[in-house]
Amino acid sequence: MQAHERLLAALDGYPRLPLAEYPTPLEPLPRLSRELGRPVYIKRDDQIGPGLGGNKTRKLEYLLADARQRGARKVATFGGLQSNHARLTAAAARQLGLEPHLLYFARRPARMTGNLLLNELLGAQMHFIPFGGGGDASMTLEQTIRLVRIVAWAILGRHYFIPVGGHSWRGCLGYVRAAVEIDCQARALGIERASLVVAVGSGGTLAGLMAGLALTGSPLGLLGIDVGKLWKAFPPTIGRLAEELCRRLGQPQTFDARQVPLIERTYAGPSYGVPSQAASAAIRRLAQSEGILLDPIYTGKAFAGMLDLCRRGALPADQPLIFLHTGGLPALFAA
Ligand SMILES: Cc1ncc(COP(=O)(O)O)c(C=O)c1O
Repeated sequence: MQAHERLLAALDGYPRLPLAEYPTPLEPLPRLSRELGRPVYIKRDDQIGPGLGGNKTRKLEYLLADARQRGARKVATFGGLQSNHARLTAAAARQLGLEPHLLYFARRPARMTGNLLLNELLGAQMHFIPFGGGGDASMTLEQTIRLVRIVAWAILGRHYFIPVGGHSWRGCLGYVRAAVEIDCQARALGIERASLVVAVGSGGTLAGLMAGLALTGSPLGLLGIDVGKLWKAFPPTIGRLAEELCRRLGQPQTFDARQVPLIERTYAGPSYGVPSQAASAAIRRLAQSEGILLDPIYTGKAFAGMLDLCRRGALPADQPLIFLHTGGLPALFAA
């Protein structure tokens, strides 16, 4: 456990404002395990608050601590219309007395549903810009972030800018910390090896876990399932972020694009934000076997991918599965 302690000490070198209770539960799924013929667990990051929560809270704990230290009054971020990250940024900003601004590169919808409705309740200022904004695989994620940063400055003036999905080394320290948590919980349950499966949107959760599992020497295998066909040259972007995380934590490692455990496109369905039939079926299957709800945009697609890979024998048959539930449930109520 020396590696864990060393890593936690390095993480403690960066300011963080805890916004939730940890560890989140790592629960067995007994009926699904029987159906699949192997142990299946779920890591409940959907149970993290505030404002109906999800994975982005772990990133915001580092980002908003930095915003506070810099004396920011306004925080701004951007995403797709049903961005959980944007809604969570609004909720966490309110919890800390900051003013949330959310940029959407789309027309203002006639009806505010799902995450947009929650943003309204949180009093977030939503700015709808009906062009640009990336996310159609014509630009890299880094290019998109650079461009939107300029637009945000032009609209808002002085503010603390958070990239889409909290995709930055500072935000993703949250998932390095989560990797330590998951590795410790898996060991405590006697899980020696397992496949840890996660939905991938901006890739920061995956990058944080890659860095964290590598630096703890964890035996857990990691697999990211892309939900959106969103970015050009995505694996190198994720590899670079994982490298930067390790460097910032004082233990440099290299991750070239081939080492990024990402299945691109296969399970993304028609496009980002549009549910696939397989995702809808996966949502019903988990709901009806275990009483746990997934969302149609991220976790439903990733869970469908995990079930399909399992069926096709593409995940080591002798190992348990751990599904990281990253939240996103407000999208179930989006029209
Ligand atoms: C519910 C949910 N799951 C997974 C993800 C993917 O996380 P990341 O953007 O870090 O890849 C997101 C955000 O994009 C999300 O909102």
